[in-house]
Amino acid sequence: EKGGYEHFMLKEIHEQPKAYRDTMRGRINAEGNKVILPELNMTEEQIKNIRNIQVVACGTAYNAGVVGRTMIESLVRIPVENDIASEYRYRSPIVTPETLVIVVSQSGETADTLAALREAQANGAHVLAITNVVGSSIAREANDVLVTLAGPEIAVASTKAYTSQLVAFGLFALYLAEVRGTQTEGQVAKILAAMQALPEQVEEILAQKEAIKGYAEQISEHKNLFFIGRGVDYAVAQEGSLKLKEISYIHSEAYAAGELKHGTLALIEEGVPVIALATQEAVLEKTVSNIKEVKARGADVLAITHQEHLTDLLRSVDQVFVIPKTLPMLTAALSVVPLQLLSYYASLALGHDVDKPRNLAKSVTVE
Ligand code: M6R
Repeated sequence: EKGGYEHFMLKEIHEQPKAYRDTMRGRINAEGNKVILPELNMTEEQIKNIRNIQVVACGTAYNAGVVGRTMIESLVRIPVENDIASEYRYRSPIVTPETLVIVVSQSGETADTLAALREAQANGAHVLAITNVVGSSIAREANDVLVTLAGPEIAVASTKAYTSQLVAFGLFALYLAEVRGTQTEGQVAKILAAMQALPEQVEEILAQKEAIKGYAEQISEHKNLFFIGRGVDYAVAQEGSLKLKEISYIHSEAYAAGELKHGTLALIEEGVPVIALATQEAVLEKTVSNIKEVKARGADVLAITHQEHLTDLLRSVDQVFVIPKTLPMLTAALSVVPLQLLSYYASLALGHDVDKPRNLAKSVTVE
């Protein structure tokens, strides 16, 4: 059942290229310049009237939503808020009939997310669910469902569900852009081409897993580490940190790179590992100066970046891991993969139960 892999998590990490393809299949026209989502009930008029979007979810699904926000805001210019489901309903969210609420849940059974969905509907919002389980409670109660086709995810640590949620967000953002006329066909085609290249690019990363294994063994001796990044890189840093804590039990924090000097820099001392996500060209220079700030305090820095940024980074980091080039908005779909492998191999090195980490359940059905 593990398909020759030692753990479900490793198998599921390797299934990501397929999950990407399956989630895109049948949803892109033959010319490659249009997203087709006939399953949606939302009318064109409803889509044109959306004034704001709230993305509500827990854990890894929340982290995917943060990337989804960037995609929607940059392609469609609709304001998007991200909410943790267990917080959402107690903050009296401002919802109008022009609010679209997107709930994201791999299992479709997370109690907090389901409660948030009900709260949103009670306030008159249209709810779209992005879920991996067609017959789940969330899928049944939502007004619209966009399924991810990642296949069953068994490991408690979510991997292929997260990455296929990113693809679902990409498709949905492009669909909104088409209906609202905010992107040209040419721009849509360019993004779709980049999305269709992702499966092969993930394969390229997976082929380098031994390098990540070696690094994971190094960090498994540490008690504390940091992930830093800006923009989408920060969103991925959060996912990388969650994954590492979840299965290796090593404490880590994800920080917006520019925020370190507002307090956290105090925790950087000789030898502390810092994983710097440095893929976003528009803020690269700024990220490099943040890397220098931690380096100056003795941090041991691994940068995850693109080939073309190597010269900017090599002087300030200790190690690099290069990921293939994609559009800045899509980098999360690639940069998360080395972080998934990192947490996997760190957990393995420490002898933990990778697929069933302590104190956690795959599906959290209590609030
Ligand atoms: O099934 P869901 O997507 O609603 O689950 C949400 C979280 O419980 C889940 O993503 C959790 O954070 C993962 N175990 C993280 O790997």
